[in-house]
Amino acid sequence: MSGRDLPPFQHMQDFLSFLETENDLRQIDAPVDVHLEATALHQKVIALGGPALKLSAPKSEDTTKFATPLLVNLFGTRKRVANGLGLHPGSLPNLGNFLASLRSPQPPSSLRDAYKLFPMAKAGLNTRPKRISSSKALEAVRPDLTQLPVQTCWPEDAGPLITWGVVITRSLGADDPRTYNLGIYRIQVLGPDKAIIRWLPFRGGAHHYRQWQEKGETMPVAIVIGCDPATLLSAVIPAPGNLSELALAGIFNGTPSRLAACRSIQMHVPLSSEIVLEGEVRPGEIALEGPFGDHTGYYNDAAPYPVFHLHAMSMRKDAVYLSTFTGRAPDEPSVIGEAMTDIFSPILRQAIPEIRDVYLPPATCSYRFAILKIDKSYPGQAKRAMMGFWSLLPQFSMTKYVVVVDQDIDIRSWDEVMWAIATRSDPERDLLVLEGTPVDQLDFASPREGLGGKLGIDATVKIGAETSRPFAEKLSMPKEVEARAEELMTELVNADYSGASVQ
Ligand SMILES: Cc1cc2nc3c(=O)[nH]c(=O)nc-3n(C[C@H](O)[C@H](O)[C@H](O)COP(=O)(O)O)c2cc1C
Repeated sequence: MSGRDLPPFQHMQDFLSFLETENDLRQIDAPVDVHLEATALHQKVIALGGPALKLSAPKSEDTTKFATPLLVNLFGTRKRVANGLGLHPGSLPNLGNFLASLRSPQPPSSLRDAYKLFPMAKAGLNTRPKRISSSKALEAVRPDLTQLPVQTCWPEDAGPLITWGVVITRSLGADDPRTYNLGIYRIQVLGPDKAIIRWLPFRGGAHHYRQWQEKGETMPVAIVIGCDPATLLSAVIPAPGNLSELALAGIFNGTPSRLAACRSIQMHVPLSSEIVLEGEVRPGEIALEGPFGDHTGYYNDAAPYPVFHLHAMSMRKDAVYLSTFTGRAPDEPSVIGEAMTDIFSPILRQAIPEIRDVYLPPATCSYRFAILKIDKSYPGQAKRAMMGFWSLLPQFSMTKYVVVVDQDIDIRSWDEVMWAIATRSDPERDLLVLEGTPVDQLDFASPREGLGGKLGIDATVKIGAETSRPFAEKLSMPKEVEARAEELMTELVNADYSGASVQ
């Protein structure tokens, strides 16, 4: 492949124009309330695999109309996630192969091979983000968060929530974009110039915060709401190795990220930003965040997180405000997560070659359950695959259940997976139970916060020393009989029922 399949999307607007030509963006001019209504509409559209929605007349409960349109469901289908990265959906595994080669233990030669897979990445990788002193496209506006159509997603939510803010933080010392971390962390609006940022303790933003806090220094923070799609997705994808999110965005775009200087803090933001919030987080100033509805399908507990003070705000002319909801799947993070499986699969295969494919069903909060397909050749191999999976990437340590199946099972079909469990596993022999392992902090089922068990189920056909009985033969039809039955089926489906008979 030649890298990107699609033309570059320098700005959000370029991507929206592309989606329009694909009939993948709809504008709704009727007023839509940012309090609950936008979420309820979004839920219905995403469940149908529907288009991105530009709500041109967002309003709030007290009938205030907002000047900025609300954009939701931008990455609500696998196709739009791939398109945002500049790819057709079928190319996602290629991207995964490229990222896997970046993790390879022999970087120089593997990089040459990697560039063959993804030539445009060279420009993105080899060049630092380009800094531009300021951007004329971004106009300063009165810093007031209440002017934005911020959604309140669920009835018991603690308040309005910025859901798609790219939070940019940096290391202590001089402003160096190579140290930047970009992550999407939800932001609870407390007032016109005050908010709470919820970066979970193991996130890049939290890591930077600890550095500044230890020195007792105030930390500059920039928040970007809406920008070019590759940068948005780079802030969500766990970047391989030491690659920064800006470098990853450069790879997807085929050009280094271009950055504009902030007005009030020593930081830079992507030149493509739609809305920029500049401010600071002071050492030790925290407030109770939440509760908010989350991807688990439940409300989280309130918990303490740092307070953000807004200093300056700027917007592109005709900016759109990007938002989403998080809730039980399907929501946008679950759709993105499913597309990301294509990217992780080659990384897994590289480390544990017998793993042929992996699937993380969105219905299981996207990461709490994993199905591994393996090419099994020796006894005990399924258990090795489970242990390898749990320890390979940090995020896989949050997966509570791992089911391992053989190559003949379609891991995206619950019926097939359940059939394999029902017919190929024995609870006495094939369960691997672990105690006291790290689990998701948001998992209310674990007896202690952040610590709980894991279960592996070996649902592969038992071989060698695993069993003393021969395994039964699987039912199947000869190929030619299958082919004839297919033919007959086609005729049956196409038959005119006004009397014609199948020949
Ligand atoms: C819509 C959306 C909302 C998210 N909200 C949060 C959040 O509130 N807190 C958090 O720590 N991660 C959240 N995430 C996940 C992180 O953005 C994601 O894991 C990212 O890779 C973290 O980057 P980091 O490892 O550089 O910190 C969210 C992701 C999406 C797509």
